[in-house]
Amino acid sequence: MSTYTETKPKVTTRRLREMKERGEKIACLTAYDYTTATLVDGAGIDLILVGDSASNVMAGNLTTLPITLDEMITYAKGVTKGVKRALVVVDLPFGTYQGNSKEALASAVRVMKEANAEAVKLEGGSEIRESIERILTAGIPVMGHLGLTPQSINKFGTYNVRAKEEAEAKKLIDDAMLLDDLGCFAIVLEKVPAALAAEVASKVSCPVIGIGAGNGVDGQILVFQDMMGMNNGFSPKFLRRYADLAGVITEGLGKYVADVKSCDFPNAQEQY
Ligand code: KIV
Repeated sequence: MSTYTETKPKVTTRRLREMKERGEKIACLTAYDYTTATLVDGAGIDLILVGDSASNVMAGNLTTLPITLDEMITYAKGVTKGVKRALVVVDLPFGTYQGNSKEALASAVRVMKEANAEAVKLEGGSEIRESIERILTAGIPVMGHLGLTPQSINKFGTYNVRAKEEAEAKKLIDDAMLLDDLGCFAIVLEKVPAALAAEVASKVSCPVIGIGAGNGVDGQILVFQDMMGMNNGFSPKFLRRYADLAGVITEGLGKYVADVKSCDFPNAQEQY
């Protein structure tokens, strides 16, 4: 019997770059817990992001700003225990890397040591150059994130598409090329025009992973709860739903309540 690792070798940052070079699209998804991570990994997802979107979908916050490094590490520990093949990347949360590269390195080191992660993701371009450089000097792979960067929601004021204007598009291209030159192993591009995203992907050597960035990039990422239909209040244009888990769970819960109330559960076979 062949083992999982024989047929599907572990995904590394180098493998992701090779995938870009041969035009193989990279499938990425978020996960925040052990059980989901085992399913996502088993399905052949190449990169699992323990995103700070956990602040919204796990902790119920309105933005990604409140989540702490300790919380991210707790979520990430469960995920890394469940993953055999995918590359596991963990978001550094707001306030743990901006403006102080020593703190950025300390945050990244904690994520790698305590959660057993394989890389970290940071939002921003030239403003966080020093932080990225310092983390990279420790041998920690860094994934960039440009376009809509939710940690800066208070600066933007909206979650609308970014970089529609020429000046912002130019800065985005410059930032992407800087991140590539610095040695980021990949860049997430969130909610930007498809043509701009394709241009960025053609200009940088590292893989560009899109969310709401069209089909001209090297891979795609979505938030697990959104694409599985657990969160029907969130319906951006870019989102494709692959299941109606909210419906399935609600139906199951309704049956359970009815069975308990009617004394149908447990039956004779379900007791000792
Ligand atoms: O936190 C997150 O889930 C992300 C993805 C949307 C890319 O950053």
